[in-house]
Amino acid sequence: MEVRLVTLRPEDIQADALATVVFERTADEQPVQPDTAARLNTLTRNWLDELYRSGEFRGKALETALLHRPPELAVSRLLVVGGGKRENFTPAELRKAAGTALRTLKSKGTRRLAFLLDPDFSAPEQIEAAAEGAILGNYEPDRYKTDKKDAGQVDEAVFAVPASSPAAEEALRRGRIIAESQNYTRDLVSEPANRLTPTLLAERARQMASELGLECEILDQTRMQQLGMGALLGVAQGSSEPPALIVIRYHPEQARAEQLHLGLIGKGVTFDTGGISLKPSEGMEKMKYDMAGGAAVIGAMRAIAQLKPPLPVTGFVPAVENMPGSRAQRPGDIVTSLSGKTIEVLNTDAEGRLILADTLTYARRLGCTHLLDAATLTGAIVIALGLVHAGAFSNDQRFLDTVLASARKEGERLWPMPLDEDYKESLKSTFADIPNVGNRWGGAITAAMFLKEFVETTPWVHLDIAGTAWLEEAKPFLAKGPTGIPLRTFVRVALEMGLPQAPPA
Ligand code: BES
Ligand code: ZN
Ligand code: ZN
Repeated sequence: MEVRLVTLRPEDIQADALATVVFERTADEQPVQPDTAARLNTLTRNWLDELYRSGEFRGKALETALLHRPPELAVSRLLVVGGGKRENFTPAELRKAAGTALRTLKSKGTRRLAFLLDPDFSAPEQIEAAAEGAILGNYEPDRYKTDKKDAGQVDEAVFAVPASSPAAEEALRRGRIIAESQNYTRDLVSEPANRLTPTLLAERARQMASELGLECEILDQTRMQQLGMGALLGVAQGSSEPPALIVIRYHPEQARAEQLHLGLIGKGVTFDTGGISLKPSEGMEKMKYDMAGGAAVIGAMRAIAQLKPPLPVTGFVPAVENMPGSRAQRPGDIVTSLSGKTIEVLNTDAEGRLILADTLTYARRLGCTHLLDAATLTGAIVIALGLVHAGAFSNDQRFLDTVLASARKEGERLWPMPLDEDYKESLKSTFADIPNVGNRWGGAITAAMFLKEFVETTPWVHLDIAGTAWLEEAKPFLAKGPTGIPLRTFVRVALEMGLPQAPPA
């Protein structure tokens, strides 16, 4: 989909439909506030007043109403999208409103769509969010449907702003890069495991890297054996598909003076059967999304390559398939990790933390000063936080604050989780240094506690995205399926760390 800024008056906009945001008010409240839909003509605003007065439309968040043949406009349809209470209207709300407008109109056959951005919502961060919302809303996971007529596609979205500027154009570009990268991630996540093995995921990463001028190195099984990545290799050995450790490097032309180096790490289990600790068959098909963290890392690198923050960023994706083949590891097996620590594999379904352990150690050895990982790590995080927030675990308050603030700006919801040493009580092995599972309580926390053993003192944040990487039901602004979370947080953290007054050191 093309996105463009225009500075036309609403009357002159040519498109299949025009969309705008209006705010909440009750039926008896007085006419549309002068600052709402301010650029629409009087007749159209009268129509809006009538709509509110009828009580059929209140302007609540993501409510919609469609007017045909709006007076004095060149477009044949006007869609109003509720923005909720004006004082709560953030760029995150605008992102959702733009996505809702796009999805509502594309289901009605719209191909060319215009958004009217009021003077109040045309600051760069709002233009960026509106463009993102539209591009993300246009996405459908329908690659393997031979008949795509159901969903339709919008070909062009124009944003009508009061005045153009280099900052506005730059914001539109940023929004486009980030949202297209997020859709690229969503495409990877929705690929089924027969079409996206660890080898094929590595090929996709290599392809993306070569198109965008990033360095990409794939560590194969032999190399991992030489290095001593016993934890990662133990998971991979049950599958006939060989593992791959994908390393993507971004080097800025001019690095900031401080020696910062961000490492983004994502779990890349292309399918998780559980291994010998086999999962129940019901719902197992969803386990193709167990590489969502890895896909977000690859997509984030795609965006970072174009947005060029002034600090080095390296992406690491351990890609494996967790299968119960005849060579699979067994419960009770003891593996030696890259760090030298021995691990007793009590449950082969707790494979994510095993592959991440070696990857975190490797990232530290390559000189990353800050580690940010995302993984569909535990069912327990879904019990704890449901489908709304991802859990955020950290050993460094300052870095955690940077990540939380970045996520808030991006409308990706994170919730801080504890990592007190007391939780380590349940991580005791009789035969090795550490077991890969604790007792049944606080499973998301013990999983994070396990990872913490491998990051040691490096500032680190771990995001457990098992509940948020996949949408079970479509939202008005987003299709069902992969969400692409936490790509925007990844990218924002890289941009924030690149700022001159930047936080952690
Ligand atoms: N990939 C799963 C976690 C998961 C579960 C993601 C449900 C999405 C939805 C992970 O590898 C796993 O199986 N974790 C186990 C850990 C347990 C054996 C300690 C779990 O959460 O059940
Ligand atoms: Zn598992
Ligand atoms: Zn898993």
